Amino acid sequence: MFSAALLLAAATTTVLAETLTTQSSVINTFPDFSACAAQPSVFSCENTTAIKNTCCSPTPGGLVLQTQFWSTYTGLEKKGQKLPKSSWTIHGLWPDNCDGSYESYCDATRQFDPTPDKSTNFSAWTGPSIDTFVKKFGRHDLLDYMEKYWINQRAPNADFWAHEFSKHATCTSTFDIACYGPKYKKHQDVVDFFDAVVRAFKQYPTFDILASFGIVPSNTTSYTRTQIETALKSQTGAVPYLGCSTNGTILTEVWYFSHVYGTEQFGTYKTLDSTTKSSCSATAPIRYLERTPGSEREVRK
Ligand SMILES: *[C@@H]1O[C@H](CO)[C@@H](O)[C@H](O)[C@H]1NC(C)=O
Ligand SMILES: *[C@@H]1O[C@H](CO)[C@@H](O)[C@H](O)[C@H]1NC(C)=O
Ligand SMILES: *[C@@H]1O[C@H](CO)[C@@H](O)[C@H](O)[C@H]1NC(C)=O
Ligand SMILES: *[C@@H]1O[C@H](CO)[C@@H](O)[C@H](O)[C@H]1NC(C)=O
Repeated sequence: MFSAALLLAAATTTVLAETLTTQSSVINTFPDFSACAAQPSVFSCENTTAIKNTCCSPTPGGLVLQTQFWSTYTGLEKKGQKLPKSSWTIHGLWPDNCDGSYESYCDATRQFDPTPDKSTNFSAWTGPSIDTFVKKFGRHDLLDYMEKYWINQRAPNADFWAHEFSKHATCTSTFDIACYGPKYKKHQDVVDFFDAVVRAFKQYPTFDILASFGIVPSNTTSYTRTQIETALKSQTGAVPYLGCSTNGTILTEVWYFSHVYGTEQFGTYKTLDSTTKSSCSATAPIRYLERTPGSEREVRK
C-alpha cells in the first residue's frame, strides 16, 4: 500500500513537472508582482500614507480614464479599416494626476509614436510598427481585437496604438520597465498595456448601455445631455465626461474616470464622476449620429 501510494505520488509529480515545463515555454507579459504582496492595498488617489512601490498602484496618475470615441467614418474604409457595428471604439487609458492634471511622453526610450505631439521634443518613430511587438509575443488574439475596436481616423490603427502607448503608458507607473523584474523581455510592457486597455474598455460597453435606454444612433432624432448621462450613470454609478463637436451638439467622446484598487492592468476600477466639464451642450439637442454607410463592419463580433 505504502509503496503503491509513493509510486502514484511520483507519477503525479512527473506529470505536474511536464505540465509546468510546457507552461513555462509560453511567453507571458505579466509584471512581477511578488513585491506587491507586502504593500498595503488602497485605491489610487485614496492612500493616507505614501505609496512606496509604484509598480503596485498607479502613482502619480492614480485618476485613471478609460476613453472612447464615437465616430461615423475612418477615412481608410477602402483599405478595410472600418468601425465595429454596435460598439464605440477605444481611445485609450490615461493616467491623470489625482487633481486632474496630467503628464505625457514620460520616457524617451519608449518613444514609438510616428506622430508625437508638437509640444514634445520627441522625433517621429520610424522603426517597425508597434503591431510587430505584439506579434513577437504571439498575441494574434490581442491584435485581432485591437484591429476591430481600437480604430484610427485617416491613418493606420497601429499608429494610434503607438501614440497612446508612448504618450500615456510611459507615464503610468505600473507599466514601468522595472515592474517586470529581472526577466523583463523587450516590449513586454507594450503588450501588457494593450491587454490592460482592452480589459478596461470591456468594463464600459457604452453602446449597449445607451441602447438599453433607447438611446441609439439616429440621424433624425436627438437626445439631451441629461438623458445620456443618466443612462450611463445608472450602469456605472458615476457621470462620465461627454465630449461633443460642433458647438456641443454632436456626441463624439466619453471618458470614464476611476480610482484603481491595485494595478491598472489587473486591479478593480471604482468609477467616479468626471472632473472635466462636458463639452456637450446642457440645453441644446445632442445628435448621436448614424455611421456613414460602408464605414461599419457588417457583423458584430
Ligand atoms: C499617496 O502616495 C503618494 C506617493 O507615494 C504620496 O506622494 C502622497 O503624499 C500619498 N498621499 C497621502 C495622503 O499620504
Ligand atoms: C525642448 O527643447 C528645448 C530646447 O532644448 C527646451 O528648452 C524645452 O524645455 C524642451 N521641451 C520639452 C517639452 O522637453
Ligand atoms: C458655433 O456657434 C457660433 C455662434 O452661434 C457660430 O458662429 C459657429 O459657426 C458655430 N460653429 C459650428 C462649427 O457650428
Ligand atoms: C448620418 O449623418 C452623418 C452626418 O451628416 C453622415 O455622415 C452619415 O453618413 C449619416 N448616416 C446615415 C446612415 O445616413
